[in-house]
Amino acid sequence: MRKLIVGPLAVLFTCVAWVGQASATPTESSSDTVRVLVVYHSLTGNTRTLAEAVAEGAREVAGAEVTLKPVDEVGNEDLEACDALLIGSPTYWGSIATPVKAFIDDRRVFMGDKVGGAFATGGSDGGGKELAVLSILTAMLNNGMIVAGPHYEEDGIRFGGFGVAATTGSDSPGLDEAELSRGRLLGERVATVAKRYRESR
Ligand SMILES: Cc1cc2nc3c(=O)[nH]c(=O)nc-3n(C[C@H](O)[C@H](O)[C@H](O)COP(=O)(O)O)c2cc1C
Repeated sequence: MRKLIVGPLAVLFTCVAWVGQASATPTESSSDTVRVLVVYHSLTGNTRTLAEAVAEGAREVAGAEVTLKPVDEVGNEDLEACDALLIGSPTYWGSIATPVKAFIDDRRVFMGDKVGGAFATGGSDGGGKELAVLSILTAMLNNGMIVAGPHYEEDGIRFGGFGVAATTGSDSPGLDEAELSRGRLLGERVATVAKRYRESR
């Protein structure tokens, strides 16, 4: 009688344990998964549009799990979980916008060896959007990150950039296809570098 009960119970517990392991898997990151977090601040939608292009590019990388969030919705757990972080800001007075600066200053997560990338929008040419990108990259380097920019090819010549900076004011209103394409290349490159680095560890 005892054997009759213990036998099926053992099978049941084995099944429960197996199902438990299987259901735990999606919350863990397998070796060919790369978690990419794209965060931004955007008051009038331009930086959000560029952030969406960056996220789209990152999704091109096999195994990429991409999350897109405004800075004020990003928690420490998001930062801890990601392999790559891309930050985007509008240019305000030649630098990053206050909510992006507060996001960088207030989070207390060491991001060592995670891969970073940066993008910015700005109203005018020469208005400092490259400086906004560099401010983000500088903060990332100070937080132990590895930073990467997009790779381009024109007329058979290959080169790189330190991030993406798009003009949105009257000289070139909104985001044009060339700027969105550069955003996609940035997302794809950062996700690729993070994936390769993760696989090498
Ligand atoms: C307070 C403020 C300061 C700005 N300063 C600059 C600037 O220094 N250089 C620049 O190119 N654009 C500047 N702009 C324009 C914004 O960077 C630009 O419109 C940007 O695309 C807005 O992004 P968003 O639509 O994501 O909010 C400024 C805008 C505001 C509201």
